[in-house]
Formats: sequence, C-alpha cells, structure tokens
Amino acid sequence: MKRSENYEARITQMLSEMTVEEKIAQMQQISYEGYRPEVFERFRKLGAGSFLHVLGRDAEAMRSEAKQAGKTIPPIFGIDAIHGHSLLNGAVIFPSQLAAACTWNPALVKEMGKVTAREVNADGLDWVFSPVLCIGRDTRWGRVDETFGEDPYLVGTLAAAITEGYEEDGLVAACLKHYIGYGEATGARDAYDTEISMRKIRETFLPPFRRAVEAGASTVMTAYGSVSGVPMTAHRKLLREVLKGELGFDGFVVTDWYNVASLRTKQRAVESYADGVRTTIEAGNDMSMNSYPFYDHAVRMVKEGVIPMTLIDDAVRRILRVKFSLGLFDGEKKRLPREVIGSREHVEVNRKLTRESLVLLKNNGVLPLTEKHPRIAVIGPNADDIRAQYGDWTFFSHPDKAPDDCVPESDFYTVLRGIREVFDGSEIIYEKGCDVMEESDDRMMARAIAAATFSDVAVVVIGDCLAQNGETKDRSDLTLSGRQQELVAHLKKTGTPVIVVLVNGKPLCLGDVVHHADAVIEMFNGGDLGGLCVAEMIAGRFNPSGKLPISFPRTSGQVPCYYNTYPGWHGGKYMDAEETRLFDFGFGLSYTTYEYSDLTLSRDTVRAGDVLTVSVNVTNTGEMDGYETVEMYENDLYSSVLTPERQLCGFKKVFVRAGETVRVELPLAVNDLALVNAEEKTVVEPGQFEILVGGGLHQLLSVMLTVEP
Ligand code: NOJ
Repeated sequence: MKRSENYEARITQMLSEMTVEEKIAQMQQISYEGYRPEVFERFRKLGAGSFLHVLGRDAEAMRSEAKQAGKTIPPIFGIDAIHGHSLLNGAVIFPSQLAAACTWNPALVKEMGKVTAREVNADGLDWVFSPVLCIGRDTRWGRVDETFGEDPYLVGTLAAAITEGYEEDGLVAACLKHYIGYGEATGARDAYDTEISMRKIRETFLPPFRRAVEAGASTVMTAYGSVSGVPMTAHRKLLREVLKGELGFDGFVVTDWYNVASLRTKQRAVESYADGVRTTIEAGNDMSMNSYPFYDHAVRMVKEGVIPMTLIDDAVRRILRVKFSLGLFDGEKKRLPREVIGSREHVEVNRKLTRESLVLLKNNGVLPLTEKHPRIAVIGPNADDIRAQYGDWTFFSHPDKAPDDCVPESDFYTVLRGIREVFDGSEIIYEKGCDVMEESDDRMMARAIAAATFSDVAVVVIGDCLAQNGETKDRSDLTLSGRQQELVAHLKKTGTPVIVVLVNGKPLCLGDVVHHADAVIEMFNGGDLGGLCVAEMIAGRFNPSGKLPISFPRTSGQVPCYYNTYPGWHGGKYMDAEETRLFDFGFGLSYTTYEYSDLTLSRDTVRAGDVLTVSVNVTNTGEMDGYETVEMYENDLYSSVLTPERQLCGFKKVFVRAGETVRVELPLAVNDLALVNAEEKTVVEPGQFEILVGGGLHQLLSVMLTVEP
C-alpha cells in the first residue's frame, strides 16, 4: 500500500463530515448473489463500501452510477483472484498456490502476482482476496491446494513475494488470509476450532503474516475458525493487539463470508445478531463480508452509544486509506486496457512458472523421451479434464457452479492436448481407463490396457477432482480414489513403460503406484498450461527443477506428517507403517545430478543481531544444464522449548551448467534462529546450532555454529 500524509489529512476532514450511516455503509461489503437481488439493490443505493464477485463491466457501470447519484466515496470491488484472475473466463489461469510453491522461485511468484494484478485491474476491479497464508500441515483439510505448503519460512517468503507483485504498481490491493491458524483446524474439519497455543501461533503461524504485512499488504481477512475456543472474528487480542498493534498493520480487516452472522448461528458465541456486530467491531474487524443486518444494527448501536465512534472512525479511516492508496478518488485510478487480459506477455509468465512448478518424483531412466516413439498411449481420468487440472477457485466453481457445457476461452492444454502437440510425429491413443471417484466399468479398463499394450510408452494421468478439494471437501481418507491404483497396476503388467502424471489438489496416498511406475511427475493443479509443460518436460525440452513444498504421507493415518516436527516420539514411527514419508518436503529430481561440497560459514561464532554468510559448492555432475534449489536448514541442538530438528531458514535457486561448479552464498541472520519461549517471547538462545545445506532433506551437509550470549 502506498501511504501519504495528504490522504490522512483528507480522511480526517471526511470523517468529521460523514454521517453515521455513511460511515457504517463503508464497513459493509455485499456479494453479488443472484438469490438476494433486493439486498444487493438496497446496498447499492446506500453506497456500500465494497462489493465482491462483481465482474468487470458490471463494476464499471456501478461505479459510474454511484458517482451520478452523488456518492463521493467510490466502492472497492473485491474478487477471489486466487491463481490468476481465475473467476473470469478468458483471464490467465496460473497453477494453484500449492503448485506455484513447487517453483521455490519468489521472483516468478512475484511475477504471477503482477500479472494477476494487471488482469484484475484491467477488468475494472481493485482488490484480490489473495494470498492464502494458511499452512498446509493436515492434508486432509479441503483447502490445502490454496496454500504455499507446509513450511512457515517458505510460505512467508512466497507470500511476501506475491504480495509485492500485487501491490507494487498500485493496481490492486492484496488480502492476506485467513487470519489465523485456519488450516490447523482439529481433525482438518474446515472452519472448526484450532487447538493451538499463543506460543505456537507466534512460532509457526504468525511469521508469514508478519512478512507479508512488511511486504505492503493492504488488507487481511479473518478466518472462519476459532483458536482455542475463541472465534477469530471475536479475537481482540490477535486482531487488535497482535496484528494491528505489534505488526503495525495499518490497512483494514475484512471478515470472511457471513462471519458476523455465524458467530451466533454456527459458533454460538453470542446470543443475538446485534451482539455479534458489536463483538466483531470491538475485536478489530473493519468490514463485514455479507451478514447484511450488520449495517442496521451497527448504525443503531453507534447512535445509542453502545459502540464508540472512535472504533468506527478507526475502521473507516483504514478503509479510506486503502481506497486513497489505490487512487480510487478523484478519477486518479490507473486502468489498464482490457487487451492485457490473457495477453501473450502474461501467458509467457505463466509458461515459465508452470515449467518450474512441475516436480519429478521418480525416474528410472525412462525420461526424457528423446527417442522416437511411434505410438504413445495417454490414459487416465485426468488426462483430458481441464476442471480437475484447474482445481478450485476458477469460473467453473465460483461464484456459482458453471454449466456443464462451459469451456475456457483461454488457450488451455490438458495433458492429452499437450502430448498431441509436442509429439506430433507419434500416433496418440487416448483411453480414460476409469473415473476418479466412481466405480467405472471393466470395459473402460480393458480398453486402456489394450492401448498401453500396443504402445511404446503410456502416460497415465491420475489424481483427484474438484469434488475432492475446496471448502466442505475435507477428506478422511487420502488414498487415491476409485480404481486408479488398479489401473496403474494393470498397465504395469503390459510391460510398456508407465509415466504417471499426478493432477491433484494435495498429496495423496499413492499405494503401489510409485513402485509400478517408471516415472512419476507431480503437477498439482497446473492451470492453463499444465498439460503443455508436462509434455515438454517428458520430451526433455527443459530440465525439471520443481521441489515439493509439502510432504507426502504413505497412509492417511500418518497425517499430519510435515517434516519440521519436534523430537521425542518414542520409537519414531507408527508400528504399522514405514518410518519415512513417501516423499519429503523439499524433494524433487532433475534430469541431471548435483553434488554438494565445501560447506563453510563466514563466522562460526556469532551473537544475536549478527548476519553471516553460508557458502557451499554445487556441482552439476550430469549432462544437462539445470536450475537447482539449494535448501538451508537449522537445528537448535538444545533449547528451553522443543524445536524442530530441521527447520528451513533459507534457500536459493541457481543455474548450473552441466559439468560446472558454482559457489552459492546464502545470508543467515542469527535472529532468524530465534525460538518462541514459554513466556511467548521471541529470543535467540545461546548455544550450538547445526546449519545444514543441500538439495533436500536426504542430501544435507552440516556445519556447527556457536551463538554466544
Ligand atoms: C470464503 C473463503 O473462505 C474466502 O477464502 C473467500 O475469499 C471468501 N469466501 C470470498 O469468496
């Protein structure tokens, strides 16, 4: 957010002239829901501060209508642009946040933010409800696809990058969500209570918000859930004291969908609607998303003196500050021409990001397919399903479910289309084999087996579908559903090499699939170009460089199975499961190999506040140039509270030519080695720290660092 003292003086003046009704109207956001047209009309006339889910041309019309009606404060239009301006058919659809996190490339993620901001702005809108800073640790949760994965450092780095991308050019405001702990709901029950302590919040969940606030985020959205029994919309300490106080957040806080109402109807934390309105305002929410009676109750209670005007003025000041910073007043708003939407330049950014988002999980040497393959079988329920490939939060599913015949207007590629185009000299046979969820019939399976039998190679695209991801789609069983495992087992028996491509919203339990496959590629939800980039990667047109931002469990019962757990588990494993995760956080192969050597520290004895340099040699020992992400972890050997044995504290993606060695330097701030002690204070405790660097948890060099008092 761009701040200016000029706005502040003008806002003070405006606040002194506004009526109570005008002020509260600024705090009301209304959604464009077809089934409540009268409500929408009422608030349109009242001059509501914000609307959501209104798409471009309608927003433009509403804006000029408001002006003509003498409304001097323009509304701010918000949209769920979660991976691109994805609710608009025709805009660039990027890979999901989880897929984008596989790039480990903050510069590219920032570009994704910039492109999205440009498209949203050109469509006449002002505000994106993104990024998601929830931490995807319990992968049964339905919204893991929306996260940047399981690690607070990676989440914070990428969240800061995309926030900068959204905000830097002043085109749109970003919205950090969902504040806070939402993804940690007990049992992965969406919006349910989160049994985490304030210490844990400060250790794990707050740091990403801190980084994204520092990166300039204009708004924050409160989570649906509760923390240790206190609903987030009513959490005065976390909203007013921590977010607005400690973190110095000076933008505005919007509730999530009907949060004020659900304080009574769902959480039963207040007895009346009016109580809910008072509680949420007192706690520090500045704008109510929907919950239409908010307006009437708030106006009345302010007039009766139940809600102090100082709280209202603070909320409205924050909202106006964001509106001024976006240039919404005085016709200052920069609007890009509509032609930027889906432009070639934007598609190029998407292509780069999608290529880097693909993770090679297994390769017995079958890849890349550089020799001529006369016949390729493309098999599987997700081989030609763009809805599954897009995943959640596109025009297919929001704000309403699109009709069955809805087709993307962008130049989109499923894996089938990608393979057809990239391998244009080969005969391509397509068979679905089975469905993702339904008990599909044996004939489908038989046709797929026959296709593989008579082909030189089989590309098998499996995973999950829209019905298995998103709000209210929490899973109790993460096993690959339907007959997909059986399909891969049958294909293996044909003797034809099997390349499995996973198109899914989250890590799934893959059973024998990895064992049966000759190669496995993880796409997650790959957006418009997922299918093309997978085909290009299979053909060896680029060297894969993605790494997992999240761990893969072997069985659902292992969840949560994130890597940065505390020590102290007797036995360290379940008696009925293997000790290891199927794939670790930070894991990803390449068509070349890298060796690490000569790990050094610029100083081996330091104090809090110091910054040192960690250096390591990375040698490309294979035959193909490539990008490698160098990962750095820390291990605080003995500490007053438990700390993870491995905690990511830095990373850098570097380009290394085949046969060459590069010296990579990573800065390490000693303050980043801090822990949150039992008194909830963030402190660096003196002692020994192990600093570990390498290409993943399985391949780390280590060196000791002493922190002196
Ligand atoms: C509910 C979701 O939790 C949130 O992420 C989204 O931005 C809002 N609804 C608006 O659609």
